Amino acid sequence: MTTERTFSIIKPDATRRNLTGAVTKMLEEAGLRVVASKRIHMTREQAEGFYGVHKERPFFADLVGFMISGPVVVQVLEGEDAVAANRKVMGATNPANAEPGTIRKELAESIEANSVHGSDSAENAAIEIAFFFQPEEIVG
Ligand code: PPS
Repeated sequence: MTTERTFSIIKPDATRRNLTGAVTKMLEEAGLRVVASKRIHMTREQAEGFYGVHKERPFFADLVGFMISGPVVVQVLEGEDAVAANRKVMGATNPANAEPGTIRKELAESIEANSVHGSDSAENAAIEIAFFFQPEEIVG
């Protein structure tokens, strides 16, 4: 067990439904500490850059369009095995396949409007955190 950091986005479907607090409560109850947080409206350029790894996938345009459709909350989460703990509490990409008690099962609307993003590895977490935060914005 190691203390690590991961990166999270509360997506536009969740901010639109005023679920920022509900999502954050589930993250905190999973043992994750919010050490940085800001509400932003991503530009198309930011979203295309952030999701650049998916640019050849058929849903890329929809994903980018959705992520710029409203405000999001970008967060840095810290805790024991934070990447895995966050992935577990998020649940499967498609809420229809997510376990009960996970954020996506309880709160998400669809595979696109699936309420949260979370880094899939510690290496990607570091890249994603640096994409949105300056080091001094993270207060552990
Ligand atoms: S999968 O199973 O390969 O599709 O899933 P994944 O690699 O986790 O998906 C990468 C991100 O794309 C989003 N996604 C979609 N958006 C819109 N429409 C469709 N059909 C779709 N399928 C997957 C998914 O939510 C992931 O977003 P992030 O923000 O990384 O969670």
